[in-house]
Amino acid sequence: MVPTVHPSSSSCLTSEPDEKYANVNWEELGFTLIPTDYMYVAKCKQGESFSEGKIVPYGDISISPSAGILNYGQGLFEGLKAYRTQVGQITLFRPEQNALRMQMGADRLCMTPPSVDQFLEAVKQTVIANKKWVPPPGKGALYIRPLLLGSGAVLGIASAPEYTFLVYVSPVGNYHKVSSGLNLKVDHTYRRAHTGGTGGVKSCTNYSPVVKSLREAKSAGFSDVLFLDAATGRNIEEVSTCNIFVVKENIVSTPPTLGTILPGITRKSICELARDIGYGVQERDVSVDELLEAEEVFCTGTAVVVKAVESVTFYDTRIKYITGDKALSTKLHVMLTNIQMGVVEDTKGWRVEI
Ligand code: COI
Repeated sequence: MVPTVHPSSSSCLTSEPDEKYANVNWEELGFTLIPTDYMYVAKCKQGESFSEGKIVPYGDISISPSAGILNYGQGLFEGLKAYRTQVGQITLFRPEQNALRMQMGADRLCMTPPSVDQFLEAVKQTVIANKKWVPPPGKGALYIRPLLLGSGAVLGIASAPEYTFLVYVSPVGNYHKVSSGLNLKVDHTYRRAHTGGTGGVKSCTNYSPVVKSLREAKSAGFSDVLFLDAATGRNIEEVSTCNIFVVKENIVSTPPTLGTILPGITRKSICELARDIGYGVQERDVSVDELLEAEEVFCTGTAVVVKAVESVTFYDTRIKYITGDKALSTKLHVMLTNIQMGVVEDTKGWRVEI
């Protein structure tokens, strides 16, 4: 039975699921899809706004073979997480930022986005309906995947006449299996984004072109790929799924979000936390030379959280960096996850309780 969720008060389910937890081996969570019970779906015609959505059983959706998303990749996705705290609350981390980023992307791809309130309501309803899939405290998180799709039929190049806003969830653990740092390969062949393109929004089309590079790197024993800017090939931009930071002499630097780099919410939060503990933070072009001379390198993202980089390989040069207890990334990881998981007081208003 589909639980009834009151649209304006997402904390009341009229039918609570019987069990507190779903039947999942929480110790073994990785970042692979575990289908859950329910998803949220709302639709909107071009030129109108989204009608109230519904929680429905999780499953396949029916879509025209001529849908904008299937033919021309007109689609965006988001990623955020729900955590179960030690005192049994379920919290989200800065979800309004995801709603705003979806609005930016929708503008770029000429789609109608849900309002911020509708986005938040949809996320909360989907988490509540799937509450038993939120891992126990400290065992992982419920990854929330909102989608905005051009679902209406088109043949010529145009925005689809109908959009679908859908939210589904899956419990997840660590994105990368390695518990130590990542071994990154700097890709000198493929590029991820270019000026004037869609690298700065979460377009579905930004991600499948990365797979070839990732596959080649993984088969050579690397954990992930770092892409360079398309214009010069001299500056670092983004890892396949996350933003990148370099640290040297108490300055933390990360490439600026000027259209080719995804404006990560974890990225933005880490810039603030690093400033709070006295580091200089610079959002500016970072050359490969600087990367190779850095003391420390780390990645940030919803899926990866904060992850140290153990080594970077550029052609035949392999550089190793500080990781572990002495690394700034370890400290920032603790600071961030303590806020996300409700271990410390949230003085920044980042946590949203469901
Ligand atoms: C996220 O961190 O939410 C992402 O979008 C990464 C995803 C491509 C796995």
